[in-house]
Amino acid sequence: MRAFSLSLLYTGLLVVGEAVSGCHGKSSDCVDASIIAHTGEPLGKEVQYSNVTIYVAKPDPENPRTKPRAGIVLIYLSDIFGLGIPENKLLADSYARAGYLTVVPDLFDGSPAPSDLNTPGFNLTAFLEAHEPAVIDPIIAAAFGYARERLNATRFATPGYCFGGRHAFRVLSSLLSDHADVAFAAHPTLLGLDEVASADKPAALATAENDEYLDGDARLALEKALAAAGYPYQVNLYSGTEHAFGVRVPLDDPEQKYAKEEAFSQAVRWFDRFLVKGTEGEAE
Ligand SMILES: *[C@@H]1O[C@H](CO)[C@@H](O)[C@H](O)[C@H]1NC(C)=O
Ligand SMILES: *[C@@H]1O[C@H](CO)[C@@H](O)[C@H](O)[C@H]1NC(C)=O
Ligand SMILES: *[C@@H]1O[C@H](CO)[C@@H](O)[C@H](O)[C@H]1NC(C)=O
Repeated sequence: MRAFSLSLLYTGLLVVGEAVSGCHGKSSDCVDASIIAHTGEPLGKEVQYSNVTIYVAKPDPENPRTKPRAGIVLIYLSDIFGLGIPENKLLADSYARAGYLTVVPDLFDGSPAPSDLNTPGFNLTAFLEAHEPAVIDPIIAAAFGYARERLNATRFATPGYCFGGRHAFRVLSSLLSDHADVAFAAHPTLLGLDEVASADKPAALATAENDEYLDGDARLALEKALAAAGYPYQVNLYSGTEHAFGVRVPLDDPEQKYAKEEAFSQAVRWFDRFLVKGTEGEAE
């Protein structure tokens, strides 16, 4: 039944029910939808490093998934709402419950986009112009520095959402001096095909059926660029979803809530596969 529901993931059919992934009968080592917090108080704390605010979500040392992930840090690259909405911190907390020490750099230096983009006076074009890679890259570099220096990290994965999805690819490439070992991007925006081509590490994507920033043609172009690039990749398309479903969904919409949970499990399984020794399907 479990294998059956996982295979349905790839068909894009509507499946309503509990998302179960990564268990393989080892109950002590399970990742399932119950570890995802959609609402509530974030549990991590914010630190300052090199003038960058960084939200840190630590795994429970007693969690059997924590020890095999020692030395790994997830650098969570957020959407434009950043630390201004609880959902990003809650997802970082959820990654910590999957055993991953997770940091979320404030990419917007205390001034993220308002949670409602229609807020009068907010100019998205101007906001994006003010947060070009030349501004964002050094902030991400600070997060890598913090992870190396303070958390003893030696291996990195980058879950990226929307705006951060592009940057998840950039840190897989020779464009930057810091490199992640594996990335996951949910509904990336502004991601250039040249950036996909420059990357050279495994990358997984979660994409939305109805995404004004990544429509069907753009998604197909991305798939072609991934296939041509030659590194391991995975592209999942979730029916009934809108842009941003990986972070924020109407919780009374079972199809989108399920998709958010599955996209989270997809990211965890992808990171496990390439970073954790002894994981089924591990690359080395
Ligand atoms: C940190 O910010 C202060 C005040 O804005 C500035 O003077 C200093 O140069 C900054 N340091 C770094 C490392 O960017
Ligand atoms: C929004 O910002 C862009 C780029 O800075 C500018 O060209 C445009 O006029 C602004 N729009 C409004 C409505 O202020
Ligand atoms: C990092 O390593 C140093 C030196 O071995 C150790 O003192 C420190 O507790 C470690 N920090 C973490 C967060 O593991």
